[in-house]
Amino acid sequence: MSKSKDSEKTEDSARVVIFDTTLRDGEQSPGASMNLEEKMRIAGVLEEMGVDVIEAGFPIASDGDFEAVHQIARTVTESVVCGLARATRADIERCAEAIKPAKRGRIHTFISTSALHMKYKLQLEPDAVHEAVIDSVSRARGFTDDVEWSCEDGSRTDHDFMCRCVESAIKAGARTINIPDTVGYALPGEFAAIIEMLINRVPNIDKAVLSVHCHNDLGLAVANSLAAVRAGARQVECTINGLGERAGNAAMEEIVMALRTRHDTMPYTTGVNSRDITKASRLVATITGFVVQPNKAIVGANAFAHESGIHQDGVLKHAGTYEIMTPESVGLKKSTLVLGKHSGRHAFKEKLKDLGYTLGDNAVQDAFKRFKDLADKKKEIFDEDIIALVDDEVVRTNDRVHLVDLEILCGTKHRPPKAELSLEIDGQIKSCKSTGDGPVDAAFNCIKELFPTKARLQLYQVHAVTEGTDAQAEVTVRLAEEGKTVNGQSADTDTMVASVKAYVNALNKLLVKREKSAPAALSA
Ligand code: KIV
Ligand code: ZN
Repeated sequence: MSKSKDSEKTEDSARVVIFDTTLRDGEQSPGASMNLEEKMRIAGVLEEMGVDVIEAGFPIASDGDFEAVHQIARTVTESVVCGLARATRADIERCAEAIKPAKRGRIHTFISTSALHMKYKLQLEPDAVHEAVIDSVSRARGFTDDVEWSCEDGSRTDHDFMCRCVESAIKAGARTINIPDTVGYALPGEFAAIIEMLINRVPNIDKAVLSVHCHNDLGLAVANSLAAVRAGARQVECTINGLGERAGNAAMEEIVMALRTRHDTMPYTTGVNSRDITKASRLVATITGFVVQPNKAIVGANAFAHESGIHQDGVLKHAGTYEIMTPESVGLKKSTLVLGKHSGRHAFKEKLKDLGYTLGDNAVQDAFKRFKDLADKKKEIFDEDIIALVDDEVVRTNDRVHLVDLEILCGTKHRPPKAELSLEIDGQIKSCKSTGDGPVDAAFNCIKELFPTKARLQLYQVHAVTEGTDAQAEVTVRLAEEGKTVNGQSADTDTMVASVKAYVNALNKLLVKREKSAPAALSA
């Protein structure tokens, strides 16, 4: 009988470690790159929500990645801070340096073990890979007790070879053994069988925590992760909103809520406070510009909406008729009318606290001024408006380029649309006029004339923060220049102003990225 059967579980052995890789695997999604400030904000939210391990980046990949892991290691105290390293001396030493300031730091080292990857990607014989496993884990153990080892492409790895590598990795000092379904190929029964096989065949498996890292190419990342937990895995690697390479990773919010909601049949717990899920989801979506689809489980805009009359009637009579979880359990609060034109600074400050923001006096002062401006334009101000307004403020610090003035002429009588724009660039005001296919194109042409770059516009996206025609428009602009991608955001009741500010924000981020230009990122 497998040692993993539910009946054998004690209270403690039912605890599932949540390892968040939004800042590493998540950031590897094309277009999802984040700057240091943004990564620090996300890390803060992850720590606050009770995530056990934060994989903060891949330190050897770039100076920016190193800096992010290093800074997060300096500031996060409640979660373990982890960095990724290939099985090379340089990777491991760079990773060790990055996590050095952490109260609890982890090195996560990996190498491919499938026949396909060993032959074509690594061009190494299995014996050489096995040697590299022992060397890399031993080297990492020289820097920290907390070493995780992963067999990349684990789900397509020969079982005998996997057992041999896992046993050696544990002997060399790995305390966590991670089995990735790197290409999202596995099916739940099959993936669970790998975990059971390891538990039954690797003699020292009880000396390590078994972990899983599932990609979502077949839409099975969460199902595979849960099947693995039932089979004995006790760490799940996941990301907020399921961000990650290609189709993404297992979505943390789905793992946490599935374990919570189906505790009757999945008697496992996590340390994550589910009420922080909505906040984390919105923050990651805002920063990356990866909007969550409306019907996405747990965090989609429609996840708790009941449209059909029959459902609405049922929910009114008893919420349990059509709701298996409450909106409150994921931190979704009813959109409440919060503040108005006459609200004072104190009420505003209290509201910020309530929404989870801890801002310094100057930042509160700036945000309050912007709130008053908004209240002049928009009668009703909701939580979402305050969130958009503060996020907009936070992303703007240290900018080199600022919007000063914008005028647009468009509509049926004004063909082609014309834009007149002034920017402050490094303290100097510059102005120009331009035309375009539409008003956005005309305005963006002005920016390109005033601040020429090779950047290509990859994404232009608008969404309304709240209902109503007076809603703020939240705009995301993604720019790409020589392999560097950045997302700019802004919100304003005027869609054109938000669009230009989002472009300018992306430009500012690009300038920072250019300055920090480092060797091209390495693939994990
Ligand atoms: O998908 C994968 O195999 C990975 C490893 C580096 C864990 O991301
Ligand atoms: Zn991955």
